[in-house]
Formats: sequence, structure tokens, C-alpha cells
Amino acid sequence: MQKKIHLIAAARPNFMKVAPLYHALKAADWARPVLVHTGQHYDVNMSDAFFTDLRLPEPDIHLGIGSGSHAEQTGQVMIAYEKVLAEHRPDMVIVVGDVNSTIACTLAAAKITYKPSTGIVGTGNEAAVHRKILQRPLIAHLEAGLRSFDRSMPEEVNRLATDVLADVLWTPSPDADENLRHEGVDPGKIVRVGNIMIDSLEMLRHKIEELSVHKEIGLPKGGYGVVTLHRPSNVDNPEILKTLCETLGRISQRLPLVFPVHPRTRKNLETNGLLTSLAANKQLFLLEPQSYIRFMNLVFNCRLVITDSGGIQEETTYLGIPCLTMRPNTERPVTIHEGTNQLCRLEEVEQRAEAVLTKTGGRRPVPEFWDGKTALRVVESIKRLMETA
Ligand code: UD1
Repeated sequence: MQKKIHLIAAARPNFMKVAPLYHALKAADWARPVLVHTGQHYDVNMSDAFFTDLRLPEPDIHLGIGSGSHAEQTGQVMIAYEKVLAEHRPDMVIVVGDVNSTIACTLAAAKITYKPSTGIVGTGNEAAVHRKILQRPLIAHLEAGLRSFDRSMPEEVNRLATDVLADVLWTPSPDADENLRHEGVDPGKIVRVGNIMIDSLEMLRHKIEELSVHKEIGLPKGGYGVVTLHRPSNVDNPEILKTLCETLGRISQRLPLVFPVHPRTRKNLETNGLLTSLAANKQLFLLEPQSYIRFMNLVFNCRLVITDSGGIQEETTYLGIPCLTMRPNTERPVTIHEGTNQLCRLEEVEQRAEAVLTKTGGRRPVPEFWDGKTALRVVESIKRLMETA
């Protein structure tokens, strides 16, 4: 009998993590992947465009939750997903990344009880703790173990809580394994599989390379920077946001900047009367959020990235493109030690950008297991877990 495996997709950074795994599971005759979209991101260009680019079908189940406060969003996903769990009784629930829907679905799955007793028996090293019939689905976290050690970030709270509850922890890098071991996690639960986002990038490399989005904008290859900013710490405080806009304005006089604006950021720019002057700058190109292929094409051909995103720190490291991360910390230290990433305070970013532009640097090797084969390693891990089911 095929194993029913729920893949939880919720917000933009989740889609490129879920897609390679969905395709790999679809190719396995023993697995039945079921796509569950919680609806946390719902705009066409924050969600549907990614499904199209990543060749994902319409979600099998759509919870339609949408925006709200943290508790509202998390609670509503839990309530809706608990009903789905009770009805569909998946063998496994796979959550990815660190968004509110990740912890919400983990919590719902950890507390559900299937009656009468049914479930899976684990086997192999990583399932050492599951050698008993579970009356709920097995919970697996893809991109486990990342830590910023900053609990003021909602994502850090989501990561910590998810990793405590998940039965299997698939990690992208050795620092993640180390974090989990320090937290006392049973080493049998930790499986290093690598960085799943690199699978998406390699899967779509030819499509990404076919485009020249910079030409549509009128910019030369390598002659512009890409900006993305959406963290509450950067965009929710009007003073910080104003200084950020002024700083980007000055940097753009040195290097034109392309800035696809996240809905949260656009809303705050509008509310604080900053959007008009930003848009009037002829060296700064404000765009709507871009689809995966178009955005990656912009990154492939740029000179520099300024961001507060998690995933872009990794993609730039993989591509060897300098990245200035506007955050005091990162849960992805491997991008600094082994990659092209630098953490940057607001008052430093101009100087750092200048330093990047005057420097020519050699490529460094990419971190281990960032090779486009992570989905296959995850499928192998699932297969081992399911073998005796
Ligand atoms: C969420 C994630 C963050 C991730 C980011 C990527 C959490 C806690 N945060 O932050 O980790 O890096 O997604 O984008 O889960 N909005 C729209 N249309 C949409 C989605 C959002 O207009 O399709 C607006 C809504 O007004 C919403 C706001 O953007 O209130 C923020 O969305 P939300 O999902 O709450 O958080 P993000 O800032 O996107």
C-alpha cells in the first residue's frame, strides 16, 4: 500500500523546498505525496507564480488561512489542519523551514490520535526512537537545526518548537547537527541531507538562464544589485525604514538597484509616505514580487545582493555572489564561514557595498551536500522509515 505523505507548503520560502521533494516522491511507487497549502501566502505573485515555475500541481488540500497576528495565523492553521489529519490520516507529515504554518502543522500532527490504532513502525538508525506503533503520523522537519539564537525572531521560536516535536530532523549543514546535539536531541533522529533549495535551483537552471530580466529593465549583466527586505526588524519601524530608504538611495547612485517589494514592505512604505520618493529615484527599480525563475535570473546576473531573507543568503553562497545581510545574526552561519555572506548593520551597508564593488574575489567551494541531490537523500531516509510499516 502506498504511504500517504503530507507536504506542508505555506509561504513563499516554502515552495522551493517542497517542490523537489514532491517530484521525487511522485516518482516513487510506494509513496503518495499530498500537497497541503495552508494559504499563509495567497497573492498570485507570492504563491501561484511559484507553483507554476516549480511545476507543482494545484494543492490537493488548501486550508485558505491567510494573514493575521501570529497567534491567529498559527491557531487557525492548527484548527483547520487537525480536521484534515483526522479525516485523511497521513502516514507522515513533512514540514519545511520556519514559518508560522510549520509549527502550526507540527503541533496539530503531534497531538492527533488516530483511532483505532494505526500508523507506522520505524526502522533504521534515525527511527530508533520510533520502534513502536504510533497512533499519529510521523513528523519530519526539513531544514532542521538552524538557529539564530535570537528568540525575538518569530522564525527562531518556530524552529525551536518544531525541532522539539519532530520525529525526524533532516539538516542542511554540520552546524545544524551540532545545534541539535547541544539541545540534547537523540542523534538517531538527525539525518544530514543537504540543502533542498539547491535542488530547485538546479532543476530549473536552464529555465533561469534562458531569461534576461535585467534587459527588460534596461540594465547590463553584472551592472546592478538586487535588494529584498521584509523582516519586521527592518521594515516595521518607520525611522529604520526611512533610514534604510535613504541608504538604498545613496547606494543606487553607485550601483543601480532592483528591488522586488514584499507586500509587508510595500504596505509600510505606503503608510509612512516613503514609496513615492523611492519610486522617483531613476536608479532604483521597484518591482512587484517576482516569480522564482524571474527572481533567480535577476540574482544570477547581478553584482551584489542586499537582503534580510534566509534563503537568499544560501542561494548567493551557492552562486558565488556577494551578499550583504541586513541582520544582526543569521541561522545560516555556513554562508559566512564557507560562502559569500556578510552580516551588516544599517549604518555599515553603504561602506560594505563599496568594498564589495572594488574587490575581485575568487570562488569558494560550496558547502557539502549542496549538490541538487537532497530530495533523493530525503526519499531514501523516508523509505528506510517506512520499510517495516
Ligand atoms: C513570512 C514568514 C517569514 C518569511 C516570509 C517570506 C512567519 C512568521 N514569517 O513573513 O519567515 O521569511 O514569510 O515572505 O511565518 N501579505 C500579502 N499577500 C501575501 C502574503 C502576505 O499581502 O500573499 C501581507 C499581509 O498583509 C500580511 C503581511 O504581508 O499581513 C505579512 O505576511 P505574513 O505571512 O504574516 O508574514 P511575512 O512577513 O510574509
